[in-house]
Amino acid sequence: MRYRSNVKYHPYTLLLVVLLFYACGDSDLRVQCDNLLPSAQTKFIDVYALLSSSGPSGCATCHAPSNPNANYDFLTKPGVYEALSNHFDVVYAQIASGRMPEDGTPWSESNIQILRSWYCYGGPYEP
Ligand code: HEC
Repeated sequence: MRYRSNVKYHPYTLLLVVLLFYACGDSDLRVQCDNLLPSAQTKFIDVYALLSSSGPSGCATCHAPSNPNANYDFLTKPGVYEALSNHFDVVYAQIASGRMPEDGTPWSESNIQILRSWYCYGGPYEP
């Protein structure tokens, strides 16, 4: 009884807050761990290849140690791993929204799926 008397909010208030949170956010931009590849197919080396590419969907032309826009290095393996381990949500949202690569070709859904799958299976690093 003592415990119940400490509840300050009606349970529906909490539910409402949670619903509003989801309704206001763009769910495509926040990583959701569904629609994944089989775990055996999700290798860091593939994620690294996509990000470090200097092609039209790559990131390394503008985010490299010599040119680290927004302080990101997508050219080297340690740089890519650091960005994905510490700022995954930001990086994923930039890609999923098509905001990055700036002036480039937005990632295909299958490439976004590789990135999402790697992360959702724990983001293993193989140097
Ligand atoms: C043609 C240049 C260019 C390319 C290619 C590019 N970026 Fe960027 N990026 C920028 C610039 C400039 C900024 C800093 C200004 C800004 O936020 O728009 C930036 C900022 C960012 C940020 C920080 C955003 C924030 O709000 O904190 C992230 C994350 C990012 N880029 C990820 C990527 C990824 C991932 C790719 C490849 C898929 C990529 N970028 C490709 C130029 C580029």
